Amino acid sequence: MPSLPLGVPSNLDPYFYNREKELITLKSFLNTLNQDVANQIIVTGYRGVGKSYLLKKLIQELPGNILTAYLDISQVYGIQKCSLTEEQIMHALFEAINNATKKESNTLLKIYNAGKDILTKIRQNDYDFKGAGSILGIAVPDINDNYEKLSKFVMEYPQKVVDASKGEIKGFVIVIDEFQFIGELKSPEAFFWMFRSFTQEQDNVSYIFTGSTSSTSDIVDKINGINGAFGNRMLQFNVDPFTQDETENYLKEKVSEIKFTKDGLDRFYRCTRGYPAYINSFCNTLSTGVSYDSDKIIEEFYLKLEQVAVKWIFTWSTLSMQEKCIITTIIDKGPLKWSDLLGEVDFSEGTLNKNIIKLKNKGILSHSGKQYNIEDHMLSAWLKYRKEHDGFYPQ
Ligand SMILES: Nc1ncnc2c1ncn2[C@@H]1O[C@H](COP(=O)(O)OP(=O)(O)O)[C@@H](O)[C@H]1O
Ligand SMILES: [Mg+2]
Repeated sequence: MPSLPLGVPSNLDPYFYNREKELITLKSFLNTLNQDVANQIIVTGYRGVGKSYLLKKLIQELPGNILTAYLDISQVYGIQKCSLTEEQIMHALFEAINNATKKESNTLLKIYNAGKDILTKIRQNDYDFKGAGSILGIAVPDINDNYEKLSKFVMEYPQKVVDASKGEIKGFVIVIDEFQFIGELKSPEAFFWMFRSFTQEQDNVSYIFTGSTSSTSDIVDKINGINGAFGNRMLQFNVDPFTQDETENYLKEKVSEIKFTKDGLDRFYRCTRGYPAYINSFCNTLSTGVSYDSDKIIEEFYLKLEQVAVKWIFTWSTLSMQEKCIITTIIDKGPLKWSDLLGEVDFSEGTLNKNIIKLKNKGILSHSGKQYNIEDHMLSAWLKYRKEHDGFYPQ
């Protein structure tokens, strides 16, 4: 049995396949940092399509004069047990930014050590940066509000690092992954506007916001919609699943020991729809010494569905009762208009709206042709299968 990674492996290179065009495009967006032009970027795409892996590969490949930081908001959210605040994000952001400066250069080493002192203070909720901040010449903001003081300090920090490096560093790239969790803040709008106001003053800091959210979700609108904080000025980039050709070449390259007939390959592609997450988890259940034709693939797919849909089983367990109810209603009844959905669930309009926004932000619900539908076929397949077998949906 092959063992392809189910998450992003810490050693990126051995498992990474293709994405050459995507890397070229994203690098070209970031290349302008060398001319003191900082693009702000948003990368969308369904869960499991390979955004995190692609972005980790991207930042690994950037030249040494570009510092890179990576922050996964879902981890901050998880650690804080589902109550996220702006302040917690700023703490984690500063930590990620400071880690990026940990390089073998005298100038950067000084900066890193100063940053470590600041981090200790931040962790103790002590936002008086007078001593610690002086090394980068960051004026200590004369503000009483602690969060404002902290956010100003953290947001200005990466550009100050570039300035203080005296030409050694040309830019700072900061990836904010699973950014749809920012939607859990009391005012995501204010948070995005804060980013906008700082980034527009900075010539060498590019943020890449990414997450498993649909490109038409409320959260994408809040950050980059016409009335959103960045008002369409962000470069928006969508990551697509592998094509059938790419899927077949990927299998040949990474798991040549698994044999398929021609129609077996077709069926494999139709089951996984080119999502690397499903390709990997499905492959891991297949055996060597078997020639998989279409029928065998279908049989294996249903037999191993729990393993293939493993990501969804975890995500399902994090959803609220109301979110689950909306999903199972749509699976039972098919795509529904808002008013029909309201008629089917037993909670108020307000509650329905709130939960619809959450599900869209999480890339679970889509809205097109005035109807709500489930965006991921693997989630539907798994839930239908469980209902058929157990008589009820998983709790
Ligand atoms: N280009 C790729 N080559 C090989 N495997 C990939 C590639 N992109 C994604 N994967 C695999 O697919 C799974 C999902 O990738 P991930 O980056 O976590 O998706 P996303 O962030 O879009 O939800 C992981 O197991 C990862 O190893
Ligand atoms: Mg990801």
